Amino acid sequence: MSTKNIRLEVMQAIEPQVAGFMEDFLIPIEDIWQPSDFLPDSQNDRFLEDVEELRGESKELGYDFWVTMVADTITEEALPTYESWLMDVEGVDQHSGKDNGWSKWVRAWTAEENRHGDVLNKYLYLSGRVNMREVEITTQHLISDGFDIGTDRDPYKNFVYTTFQELATNISHKRVGQMAKKKGNALLGKMCTIIAGDEMRHHLAYREFVKTIFGEDPSGMMLAFADMMKKKIVMPAHFLRESGGTIGTAFENFSNCAQRLGVYTAMDYIEILKKLNAYWKLETVRSLNEEAEKARDYLLKLPARLERIATRMKFPEDQYRFKWVEANGMV
Ligand SMILES: [Fe+2]
Ligand SMILES: [Fe+2]
Repeated sequence: MSTKNIRLEVMQAIEPQVAGFMEDFLIPIEDIWQPSDFLPDSQNDRFLEDVEELRGESKELGYDFWVTMVADTITEEALPTYESWLMDVEGVDQHSGKDNGWSKWVRAWTAEENRHGDVLNKYLYLSGRVNMREVEITTQHLISDGFDIGTDRDPYKNFVYTTFQELATNISHKRVGQMAKKKGNALLGKMCTIIAGDEMRHHLAYREFVKTIFGEDPSGMMLAFADMMKKKIVMPAHFLRESGGTIGTAFENFSNCAQRLGVYTAMDYIEILKKLNAYWKLETVRSLNEEAEKARDYLLKLPARLERIATRMKFPEDQYRFKWVEANGMV
Protein backbone atom coordinates (compact mmCIF):
# COMPACT_ATOMS: atom_id res chain seq x y z
CA MET A 1 0.00 0.00 0.00
CA SER A 2 1.30 3.47 -0.77
CA THR A 3 2.33 5.80 2.05
CA LYS A 4 -0.54 8.10 1.07
CA ASN A 5 -3.15 5.35 1.38
CA ILE A 6 -1.82 4.24 4.75
CA ARG A 7 -2.10 7.80 6.04
CA LEU A 8 -5.65 8.10 4.84
CA GLU A 9 -6.54 4.82 6.54
CA VAL A 10 -4.92 5.92 9.80
CA MET A 11 -6.72 9.28 9.71
CA GLN A 12 -10.02 7.47 9.12
CA ALA A 13 -9.29 5.02 11.93
CA ILE A 14 -8.67 7.85 14.42
CA GLU A 15 -11.51 10.05 13.18
CA PRO A 16 -14.14 8.72 15.66
CA GLN A 17 -11.86 9.90 18.52
CA VAL A 18 -11.68 13.51 17.29
CA ALA A 19 -14.93 14.57 18.98
CA GLY A 20 -13.39 13.48 22.28
CA PHE A 21 -10.21 15.43 21.56
CA MET A 22 -12.33 18.52 20.91
CA GLU A 23 -14.08 18.08 24.21
CA ASP A 24 -10.80 17.60 26.07
CA PHE A 25 -8.77 20.38 24.50
CA LEU A 26 -11.14 23.11 23.29
CA ILE A 27 -13.39 25.34 25.38
CA PRO A 28 -17.11 25.79 24.56
CA ILE A 29 -17.71 29.03 22.68
CA GLU A 30 -20.11 30.42 25.27
CA ASP A 31 -17.56 29.92 28.07
CA ILE A 32 -14.29 31.04 26.50
CA TRP A 33 -12.82 34.57 26.77
CA GLN A 34 -13.45 37.09 24.01
CA PRO A 35 -11.33 40.08 22.88
CA SER A 36 -13.87 42.48 24.47
CA ASP A 37 -13.03 41.09 27.91
CA PHE A 38 -9.60 42.75 27.66
CA LEU A 39 -10.35 45.97 25.82
CA PRO A 40 -12.06 49.22 26.75
CA ASP A 41 -15.82 48.87 26.26
CA SER A 42 -16.87 51.28 23.51
CA GLN A 43 -20.46 51.28 24.80
CA ASN A 44 -19.31 52.54 28.16
CA ASP A 45 -19.24 56.28 28.92
CA ARG A 46 -15.76 55.80 30.36
CA PHE A 47 -14.47 54.49 27.02
CA LEU A 48 -12.31 57.48 26.12
CA GLU A 49 -10.79 57.67 29.61
CA ASP A 50 -10.03 53.94 29.49
CA VAL A 51 -8.36 54.38 26.11
CA GLU A 52 -6.33 57.27 27.57
CA GLU A 53 -5.18 54.99 30.36
CA LEU A 54 -4.27 52.22 27.91
CA ARG A 55 -2.24 54.70 25.85
CA GLY A 56 -0.51 55.98 28.97
CA GLU A 57 0.52 52.48 30.01
CA SER A 58 1.73 51.77 26.47
CA LYS A 59 4.28 54.57 26.71
CA GLU A 60 6.33 52.50 29.16
CA LEU A 61 7.09 49.86 26.54
CA GLY A 62 10.08 50.13 24.21
CA TYR A 63 10.76 49.79 20.49
CA ASP A 64 11.76 46.10 20.49
CA PHE A 65 8.65 45.26 22.46
CA TRP A 66 6.35 46.82 19.86
CA VAL A 67 8.17 45.17 16.98
CA THR A 68 7.63 41.81 18.65
CA MET A 69 3.96 42.58 19.35
CA VAL A 70 3.44 43.60 15.73
CA ALA A 71 5.11 40.48 14.33
CA ASP A 72 3.13 38.25 16.71
CA THR A 73 -0.08 40.01 15.69
CA ILE A 74 0.60 39.68 11.97
CA THR A 75 1.47 36.01 12.44
CA GLU A 76 -1.91 35.50 14.11
CA GLU A 77 -3.72 37.57 11.49
CA ALA A 78 -2.49 35.29 8.69
CA LEU A 79 -4.90 32.64 9.98
CA PRO A 80 -6.64 32.23 6.59
CA THR A 81 -3.37 30.70 5.32
CA TYR A 82 -3.27 28.16 8.14
CA GLU A 83 -6.91 27.18 7.93
CA SER A 84 -6.83 26.63 4.18
CA TRP A 85 -3.59 24.67 4.52
CA LEU A 86 -4.96 22.36 7.21
CA MET A 87 -8.29 21.86 5.42
CA ASP A 88 -6.26 20.48 2.52
CA VAL A 89 -4.45 17.84 4.59
CA GLU A 90 -4.96 14.18 3.66
CA GLY A 91 -7.86 12.78 5.72
CA VAL A 92 -9.37 16.17 6.59
CA ASP A 93 -12.55 16.21 4.57
CA GLN A 94 -15.30 18.78 4.48
CA HIS A 95 -16.71 17.57 1.17
CA SER A 96 -17.59 13.92 1.69
CA GLY A 97 -21.10 14.84 2.74
CA LYS A 98 -20.64 13.72 6.32
CA ASP A 99 -18.31 16.56 7.41
CA ASN A 100 -15.73 14.44 9.19
CA GLY A 101 -14.33 14.99 12.68
CA TRP A 102 -11.02 16.33 11.37
CA SER A 103 -12.66 19.15 9.41
CA LYS A 104 -14.76 20.01 12.46
CA TRP A 105 -11.54 20.16 14.47
CA VAL A 106 -9.89 22.48 11.95
CA ARG A 107 -12.87 24.85 12.02
CA ALA A 108 -13.16 24.89 15.82
CA TRP A 109 -9.40 25.37 16.20
CA THR A 110 -9.52 28.24 13.68
CA ALA A 111 -12.44 29.80 15.55
CA GLU A 112 -10.40 29.84 18.78
CA GLU A 113 -7.29 31.13 17.02
CA ASN A 114 -9.21 33.93 15.32
CA ARG A 115 -9.63 35.73 18.65
CA HIS A 116 -5.85 36.13 18.98
CA GLY A 117 -5.26 38.34 15.97
CA ASP A 118 -8.50 40.17 16.76
CA VAL A 119 -7.57 41.20 20.31
CA LEU A 120 -3.94 41.99 19.47
CA ASN A 121 -4.88 44.08 16.46
CA LYS A 122 -7.39 46.13 18.44
CA TYR A 123 -4.90 46.66 21.23
CA LEU A 124 -2.20 47.82 18.81
CA TYR A 125 -4.63 50.22 17.17
CA LEU A 126 -5.66 51.79 20.48
CA SER A 127 -2.10 51.96 21.84
CA GLY A 128 -1.07 54.62 19.34
CA ARG A 129 2.45 53.21 19.31
CA VAL A 130 2.55 51.60 15.87
CA ASN A 131 1.98 52.61 12.28
CA MET A 132 -1.19 50.64 11.61
CA ARG A 133 -1.14 51.20 7.88
CA GLU A 134 2.31 49.58 7.62
CA VAL A 135 1.12 46.73 9.83
CA GLU A 136 -1.91 46.22 7.61
CA ILE A 137 0.17 46.21 4.43
CA THR A 138 2.48 43.56 5.89
CA THR A 139 -0.53 41.46 6.94
CA GLN A 140 -2.03 41.65 3.47
CA HIS A 141 1.33 40.71 1.94
CA LEU A 142 1.74 37.75 4.27
CA ILE A 143 -1.71 36.32 3.54
CA SER A 144 -1.17 36.88 -0.16
CA ASP A 145 2.32 35.28 -0.08
CA GLY A 146 1.08 32.22 1.84
CA PHE A 147 3.66 29.87 3.31
CA ASP A 148 5.42 26.61 2.69
CA ILE A 149 6.14 24.71 5.87
CA GLY A 150 7.44 21.62 4.10
CA THR A 151 4.65 19.34 5.28
CA ASP A 152 2.87 18.80 1.99
CA ARG A 153 -0.63 17.32 2.56
CA ASP A 154 0.79 14.73 4.92
CA PRO A 155 -1.19 14.63 8.22
CA TYR A 156 1.75 13.16 10.16
CA LYS A 157 4.11 15.97 9.15
CA ASN A 158 1.44 18.62 9.61
CA PHE A 159 0.67 17.46 13.14
CA VAL A 160 4.38 17.46 14.02
CA TYR A 161 4.50 21.00 12.72
CA THR A 162 1.43 22.20 14.62
CA THR A 163 2.53 20.45 17.84
CA PHE A 164 5.85 22.25 17.63
CA GLN A 165 4.45 25.58 16.53
CA GLU A 166 1.70 25.85 19.13
CA LEU A 167 4.28 25.44 21.87
CA ALA A 168 6.58 28.00 20.21
CA THR A 169 3.75 30.56 20.16
CA ASN A 170 2.85 29.69 23.74
CA ILE A 171 6.41 30.57 24.74
CA SER A 172 6.57 33.83 22.81
CA HIS A 173 3.13 35.15 23.91
CA LYS A 174 3.95 34.20 27.50
CA ARG A 175 7.28 36.08 27.43
CA VAL A 176 5.75 39.16 25.81
CA GLY A 177 3.11 39.10 28.56
CA GLN A 178 5.80 38.91 31.24
CA MET A 179 7.64 41.86 29.71
CA ALA A 180 4.45 43.94 29.67
CA LYS A 181 3.68 43.04 33.28
CA LYS A 182 7.19 43.96 34.39
CA LYS A 183 6.71 47.42 32.91
CA GLY A 184 3.50 47.83 34.92
CA ASN A 185 1.14 47.04 32.08
CA ALA A 186 -1.06 44.51 33.85
CA LEU A 187 -3.88 44.41 31.31
CA LEU A 188 -1.63 43.68 28.34
CA GLY A 189 0.25 41.14 30.45
CA LYS A 190 -3.00 39.33 31.23
CA MET A 191 -4.08 39.46 27.60
CA CYS A 192 -0.88 37.85 26.30
CA THR A 193 -0.91 35.25 29.07
CA ILE A 194 -4.45 34.17 28.25
CA ILE A 195 -3.55 33.87 24.54
CA ALA A 196 -0.57 31.74 25.61
CA GLY A 197 -3.03 29.52 27.49
CA ASP A 198 -5.00 28.85 24.30
CA GLU A 199 -1.79 27.99 22.46
CA MET A 200 -0.91 25.50 25.21
CA ARG A 201 -4.25 23.69 24.90
CA HIS A 202 -3.78 23.49 21.14
CA HIS A 203 -0.26 22.17 21.60
CA LEU A 204 -1.53 19.45 23.94
CA ALA A 205 -4.19 18.46 21.39
CA TYR A 206 -1.82 18.17 18.43
CA ARG A 207 0.67 16.33 20.65
CA GLU A 208 -2.09 13.82 21.38
CA PHE A 209 -2.89 13.41 17.68
CA VAL A 210 0.73 12.48 17.01
CA LYS A 211 0.81 10.11 19.98
CA THR A 212 -2.28 8.37 18.66
CA ILE A 213 -0.74 8.05 15.20
CA PHE A 214 2.41 6.56 16.78
CA GLY A 215 0.13 3.80 18.09
CA GLU A 216 -1.28 3.10 14.62
CA ASP A 217 1.74 3.51 12.36
CA PRO A 218 4.95 3.80 14.42
CA SER A 219 7.43 3.63 11.55
CA GLY A 220 5.54 6.09 9.36
CA MET A 221 5.15 8.55 12.23
CA MET A 222 8.83 8.30 13.24
CA LEU A 223 9.99 8.93 9.67
CA ALA A 224 7.68 11.93 9.31
CA PHE A 225 8.91 13.43 12.59
CA ALA A 226 12.56 12.99 11.58
CA ASP A 227 11.87 14.45 8.16
CA MET A 228 10.35 17.60 9.67
CA MET A 229 13.27 18.07 12.03
CA LYS A 230 15.81 17.58 9.22
CA LYS A 231 14.09 20.35 7.27
CA LYS A 232 13.82 22.44 10.46
CA ILE A 233 10.50 23.81 11.66
CA VAL A 234 10.11 27.14 9.90
CA MET A 235 7.95 29.78 11.53
CA PRO A 236 4.53 30.39 9.93
CA ALA A 237 5.51 34.00 9.16
CA HIS A 238 8.74 33.07 7.37
CA PHE A 239 7.59 35.00 4.28
CA LEU A 240 7.10 38.22 6.29
CA ARG A 241 7.91 41.45 4.44
CA GLU A 242 7.41 45.18 4.92
CA SER A 243 5.92 47.53 2.35
CA GLY A 244 8.31 47.81 -0.58
CA GLY A 245 10.38 44.86 0.71
CA THR A 246 11.02 41.46 -0.80
CA ILE A 247 9.50 38.27 0.49
CA GLY A 248 10.93 37.03 3.80
CA THR A 249 13.26 39.96 4.50
CA ALA A 250 11.32 41.30 7.49
CA PHE A 251 11.20 37.86 9.04
CA GLU A 252 14.95 37.58 9.38
CA ASN A 253 15.16 40.97 11.06
CA PHE A 254 12.30 40.08 13.36
CA SER A 255 13.89 36.74 14.36
CA ASN A 256 17.04 38.58 15.39
CA CYS A 257 14.90 40.93 17.46
CA ALA A 258 13.03 38.04 19.15
CA GLN A 259 16.35 36.29 19.84
CA ARG A 260 17.88 39.46 21.30
CA LEU A 261 14.86 40.09 23.53
CA GLY A 262 14.79 36.43 24.58
CA VAL A 263 11.18 36.12 23.43
CA TYR A 264 11.91 33.05 21.30
CA THR A 265 15.45 31.73 20.99
CA ALA A 266 17.43 28.87 19.46
CA MET A 267 17.50 27.28 22.92
CA ASP A 268 13.69 27.32 23.05
CA TYR A 269 13.62 25.39 19.78
CA ILE A 270 15.84 22.71 21.31
CA GLU A 271 13.78 22.58 24.52
CA ILE A 272 10.62 21.98 22.49
CA LEU A 273 12.29 19.12 20.62
CA LYS A 274 13.41 17.53 23.90
CA LYS A 275 9.87 17.76 25.28
CA LEU A 276 8.41 16.11 22.19
CA ASN A 277 10.98 13.30 22.25
CA ALA A 278 10.11 12.68 25.90
CA TYR A 279 6.32 12.88 25.57
CA TRP A 280 6.19 10.55 22.59
CA LYS A 281 8.55 8.23 24.48
CA LEU A 282 10.76 7.80 21.47
CA GLU A 283 13.07 5.32 23.20
CA THR A 284 10.28 2.84 23.78
CA VAL A 285 8.41 2.95 20.46
CA ARG A 286 8.16 -0.65 19.28
CA SER A 287 8.02 -2.50 15.94
CA LEU A 288 9.96 0.04 13.92
CA ASN A 289 11.37 -0.91 10.56
CA GLU A 290 15.06 -0.44 9.86
CA GLU A 291 14.69 3.00 8.34
CA ALA A 292 12.54 4.20 11.22
CA GLU A 293 15.10 2.86 13.73
CA LYS A 294 17.66 5.15 12.07
CA ALA A 295 15.21 8.05 12.21
CA ARG A 296 14.69 7.47 15.95
CA ASP A 297 18.44 7.46 16.46
CA TYR A 298 18.72 10.74 14.59
CA LEU A 299 15.94 12.34 16.67
CA LEU A 300 17.36 11.21 20.00
CA LYS A 301 20.78 12.64 19.17
CA LEU A 302 19.47 15.84 17.62
CA PRO A 303 19.01 18.00 20.77
CA ALA A 304 22.68 17.60 21.79
CA ARG A 305 23.79 18.33 18.24
CA LEU A 306 21.67 21.47 18.04
CA GLU A 307 22.93 22.62 21.43
CA ARG A 308 26.52 22.53 20.17
CA ILE A 309 25.51 24.60 17.13
CA ALA A 310 23.41 27.07 19.19
CA THR A 311 26.29 27.97 21.48
CA ARG A 312 28.31 29.07 18.44
CA MET A 313 25.50 31.12 16.89
CA LYS A 314 25.94 34.90 16.67
CA PHE A 315 23.15 37.44 16.26
CA PRO A 316 23.51 41.02 15.09
CA GLU A 317 23.24 43.45 17.99
CA ASP A 318 22.17 46.54 16.07
CA GLN A 319 18.51 47.37 15.89
CA TYR A 320 16.96 47.18 12.46
CA ARG A 321 14.34 49.94 11.97
CA PHE A 322 10.97 48.50 11.03
CA LYS A 323 8.38 50.70 9.33
CA TRP A 324 5.74 49.31 11.71
CA VAL A 325 6.99 51.27 14.71
CA GLU A 326 7.64 55.01 14.46
CA ALA A 327 11.13 56.25 15.18
CA ASN A 328 9.76 58.44 18.00
CA GLY A 329 8.73 55.18 19.63
CA MET A 330 12.42 54.36 20.17
CA VAL A 331 13.40 53.81 23.74
FE1 LIG B 1 -2.72 31.91 18.10
FE1 LIG C 1 -1.84 28.69 17.80
